[in-house]
Amino acid sequence: MPLLDSHPPRTPVAARRLVLAHVSATYVEDGQTLTALDDLSLSVTDGEFVALIGPSGCGKSTLLDIISGLYTPSAGDIRLDGETTTTASRLGRTAYMRQRDLLMPWRSALDNAALALEVHGTPRRRARTLARARFAEFGLVGFEDAYPAQLSGGMRQRVAFLRTVLAERPLLLLDEPFGALDALSRVGLQTWLLDRWEAAAQPTRQAVLLVTHDVDEAIFLADRVVVLTPRPGRIAHIEPIDLLRPRRREMVTSAPFLAHRATLLAALGLLPSTPDPAVSTP
Ligand SMILES: Nc1ncnc2c1ncn2[C@@H]1O[C@H](COP(=O)(O)OP(=O)(O)OP(=O)(O)O)[C@@H](O)[C@H]1O
Ligand SMILES: [Mg+2]
Repeated sequence: MPLLDSHPPRTPVAARRLVLAHVSATYVEDGQTLTALDDLSLSVTDGEFVALIGPSGCGKSTLLDIISGLYTPSAGDIRLDGETTTTASRLGRTAYMRQRDLLMPWRSALDNAALALEVHGTPRRRARTLARARFAEFGLVGFEDAYPAQLSGGMRQRVAFLRTVLAERPLLLLDEPFGALDALSRVGLQTWLLDRWEAAAQPTRQAVLLVTHDVDEAIFLADRVVVLTPRPGRIAHIEPIDLLRPRRREMVTSAPFLAHRATLLAALGLLPSTPDPAVSTP
């Protein structure tokens, strides 16, 4: 039996931004069928921040591809804002930052960022003006006219992040958005994302589904952390995070934070689930 999501049953369906019910996904290669996801059920409510964590290859990117309408599941239902959807009808309804930054090498940083608005019908000049206004926030001022090959890996990732944020969809899907950044930039951008997200008023606050390999990042950012099993990805554990908002960096050394970390590492199979007395004995 798959573990169902831990939302209280009284959460009204309309408040659920995203509902995944019994979603499975397969790939067929050289006549072999590979099951990437198996019977996964999960929901994300309005304005909720959910982190998804699991071993490499367990289907996290596949899941975001499915939610965004880029891949068709082999089974299951997906609702957005209470509406049943098809793969085609999901396209363009979410803001999605894919795992590999997919900047177009022939477009400048500014034109890459503006693309998010252009594809949704904003005229090019207006899209460029709106994108340019956000460059400072992302630490990219002065690089508007640079091409991706002239940017560092971290800067390319920030341009891709800016492009995703500009799309302004109510559901933000982020696949390891800080993965290629050095530790300092990573902490800086996590804080930036959190400040911006926590400052948004509840009705306009985006729901976020963020994939990460970093347990501390998941706890620091999220309201709930969902742990997937090794492939095929199923829900292994859901951890509601018991930390107040706004989150502050000092919280990473607090007792509840460390307790969440121990539980999540155990759920990932990286720590024994019961503490080893030999380790805790002074
Ligand atoms: N286009 C594809 N064709 C065939 N198999 C694929 C394809 N995309 C993914 N897979 C396989 O499906 C499984 C899930 O892949 P996916 O990229 O979703 O994993 P992931 O959890 O995002 O991994 P990572 O943490 O390394 O990014 C893997 O075994 C992968 O090899
Ligand atoms: Mg992935």
